[in-house]
Amino acid sequence: MSVKNYIQEHQERFLNELLDLLKIPSVSADPKFKADVFKAADFVKESLEKAGADKVEICQTAGYPIVYGEKIIDPNLPTVLVYGHYDVQPADPYELWDSPPFEPVIKKTPRHPEGAIFARGSADDKGQFYMHVKAFEAMMAEGDMACNIKFMIEGEEEVGSEHLDIFVKENKEKLKADVVLVSDTHMISLDNPSVTVGLRGLAYMQVEVTGPNRDLHSGTYGGAVANPINVLCNMIASLQDEDNHITIPGFYDKVEEYSKEYRKALNEAPFDLDAYKKELDIDDVHGEAGYSTIERVGIRPTLDVNGIWGGYTGEGAKTVLPSKAYAKISMRLVPDQDHKEIAKLFEAHFKAIAPKSVKVKVTPHHGGAPAVVSTDTPGYRAADLAIQDVFGKSAIPTREGGSIPICSLFQKVLGLDPILLGFGLDTDALHSPNEHYGVKNYFMGIETIAAFFKNFKEEASK
Ligand code: BES
Ligand code: ZN
Repeated sequence: MSVKNYIQEHQERFLNELLDLLKIPSVSADPKFKADVFKAADFVKESLEKAGADKVEICQTAGYPIVYGEKIIDPNLPTVLVYGHYDVQPADPYELWDSPPFEPVIKKTPRHPEGAIFARGSADDKGQFYMHVKAFEAMMAEGDMACNIKFMIEGEEEVGSEHLDIFVKENKEKLKADVVLVSDTHMISLDNPSVTVGLRGLAYMQVEVTGPNRDLHSGTYGGAVANPINVLCNMIASLQDEDNHITIPGFYDKVEEYSKEYRKALNEAPFDLDAYKKELDIDDVHGEAGYSTIERVGIRPTLDVNGIWGGYTGEGAKTVLPSKAYAKISMRLVPDQDHKEIAKLFEAHFKAIAPKSVKVKVTPHHGGAPAVVSTDTPGYRAADLAIQDVFGKSAIPTREGGSIPICSLFQKVLGLDPILLGFGLDTDALHSPNEHYGVKNYFMGIETIAAFFKNFKEEASK
């Protein structure tokens, strides 16, 4: 039997195992789910053992553990390091889900006519990293492992991979490989397969604006004392000008500008603006003047308010001038912006623009560096060839807007370009209610990963 036949023969079990993994609410951001995050790590450990990995261990960190496992077939063969994450984003708001987020169901959608698995983490990243476990199982079962494999599956990606940094630095020998393979991104579509060659970085801030020392009657004091929510809104509004340029001094100093040719090539990727707007139910897109939607997401930095709160938000009306207002603000960064530097620029500017009538506190949360991957490596060529084998056409290199902070660490510490071979679609609702992952994407992904190993062996030896 071949690896392809093995995958087909075991389809039902491959799917059911993923559904079991999706039932574990491994939300890393919320301490309420701590036990479940550990449970997911155990699940990953067992799945690697069953698939045939050696030296499987749960590596404890100061945060959530990293699951490691390997199969060294022959030290002379190239080694592929697979990275993924078993933690998921919070499922809130639960009421916006059509089915409970940790009770996976399979339903058809316009983009997944053959069905998609609806559950938190289905596409990001359980459904995607689990493809590697199953590709590994199939290759092992068929005695068809073309390369050695190492797995590193972490549980803190969605909260900034804080402890992975030290782990990678302290375990360089253990993690030694010839390429890093990651499935935690999108492709354009199954008809237009793509490989991600760039991810944005992130600087995430929380701000607190304090006005009077207590909530006040908005009639007695309104108009005479600064309302921190009004002030915060003005401050936030001033962070972008009429062209949607970010106004923080120095923000663009290190932003890499691309040539006309590069921008033209990026814009040649298939993209249907009308379908994009229709799917989001918006009449127009919005963004930095002078750039296309593909460019705004792929090669330009942005600033977004992720949440804003304060004052009275309960039922009915309460006339109150609140004492405090808060917001969580994130900036997506591009090469060569440094998230720590940007966090400092933000803080200095935010404090500088605050009127004397309020006090401002700025707290940086996690951050991450952007990453750009070369297309001129054995790893990229192997990914392209694997896509050709399974999809029948060459991969389109794309720049994506999301962040995987660990990618730049792989480059810096291990000297390896991660190959971002993702099979999700941008409409899969990552981080949103009703996240889903195509069943066909899952199985084609498993096949493509197996094909990658074969092609990488060839490409690495050239
Ligand atoms: N899988 C995503 C990253 C991603 C999403 C890449 C879409 C490309 C397209 C990842 O799990 C994620 O969401 N990362 C966070 C990083 C953050 C918490 C440091 C993100 O991008 O918000
Ligand atoms: Zn992810």
